[in-house]
Amino acid sequence: MVDEASLKVKSIDAYTVFDSRGYPTIECICELDNGASGKSIVPSGASTGTFEALELRDGDPQLFGGKSVHLAINHIKTSIQTAVLKSGVNNQERLDQLLIDLDGTANKSRFGANAILAVSMAYAHAVAQSKNLPLFESLNPDPSAHIIPLPEIQIFGGGAHSAGRIDLQDFMVICTGAENLMQCYQMTFDVYQAAGQLMKERGQMAGLADEGGYWPTFDSNTEVFVILEESILRAGYIPGKDISISLDIAATEFYTDGKYHLKLEDRYLSATQFAQVLDDWINKYAVCSIEDPFSEVDHIAWSTFTEKWGDKLQLIGDDLFVTNQRLLQQGIKQKLANSILIKLNQIGTVTETLQCIHLAQEAGWRPVISARSGETEDTFISHLAVATGAGQLKVGSFARSERMVKWNELLRIQRKISQSGQNPSFAVQTIRFPWDI
Ligand code: PGA
Ligand code: ZN
Repeated sequence: MVDEASLKVKSIDAYTVFDSRGYPTIECICELDNGASGKSIVPSGASTGTFEALELRDGDPQLFGGKSVHLAINHIKTSIQTAVLKSGVNNQERLDQLLIDLDGTANKSRFGANAILAVSMAYAHAVAQSKNLPLFESLNPDPSAHIIPLPEIQIFGGGAHSAGRIDLQDFMVICTGAENLMQCYQMTFDVYQAAGQLMKERGQMAGLADEGGYWPTFDSNTEVFVILEESILRAGYIPGKDISISLDIAATEFYTDGKYHLKLEDRYLSATQFAQVLDDWINKYAVCSIEDPFSEVDHIAWSTFTEKWGDKLQLIGDDLFVTNQRLLQQGIKQKLANSILIKLNQIGTVTETLQCIHLAQEAGWRPVISARSGETEDTFISHLAVATGAGQLKVGSFARSERMVKWNELLRIQRKISQSGQNPSFAVQTIRFPWDI
């Protein structure tokens, strides 16, 4: 047993490192009284929701195009460190509450959610090291709660992650027919390779988008569905049986003045018209999950769509809920969706993130733990997904180290669970998903 008193913070340090887009971000080291230390790196989004906690950047065009994070780092090294050391807090909840109170704003705009999250995650890592446990076990010591999540993996990356080359943001696969994690990786690898081959043959290969999916050189949004299903077939799998399509429409990005603007097809659609387009795609292709089909403010469109499709498909609110318990509570009451995307930096502390996941689970909703488009070598989310038994993890594609480090970490966690004599349970066998009939 670890002496609780020894989990007090001795020092906090922070400095600039760079994310997968080469943008500055914060690395934070938190050292405890017992000598243990933890290190975190904060990710960053591109298609951010309006109601997310604030990511504090310096805004000086001379410094990394305004993206440097010296202000946030200074907050960590001065106000935050002083208050945390003085308070003597010795657990995650109390630390996070202190950070929330110290900041005092609704969206963490005083210190920046990036500053607060850096400290919160570094502390979680330090506590794990104190207990000599992997992070997932430190976050949740109950082995029966640990579930290896089902990955949601991007094949084509559009929207804000490919300079708006196509309107829809993520075309992903979920290997609903996989019996274990390695089989899921094998199936994903096969589809990703087949899609790449197909793009080459068609003279459409133009490199990768921000999260490692293929750059979408398509003439219509519908063409992507055709190519993706062809890739699944070419890889030897049956769409809708072995592997299904998962979309992140990220519709807030192309919603203006009450219309959904599909630039690629030069069409301005009302919510009802856009819902019909979605209906067509769902009816024609093997879609099992849709994230952000409508704008973060178009609640009527959300509830109408969920009433129609909510018992067949997974409907995930990302920009709609921004990992915020108050917004999720409202969404559950109004039946806006049936699932929530979970991103630590949308809310800014580990405790609030865990509470949001539990709130979703208590309501029978599925939380999907997610990376950001600007990622790092930090593997916090892989551990978070296993610890909470969330059941799903979304990290981008099956390429590029900032993505693969998360997929690889799941393999290491699985191995660790096996070595401790437990049988690692895989989400497909353990959890009922909205697409399971
Ligand atoms: P972002 O994209 O990290 O750029 O916000 C991810 C998502 O929308 O799910
Ligand atoms: Zn999203």
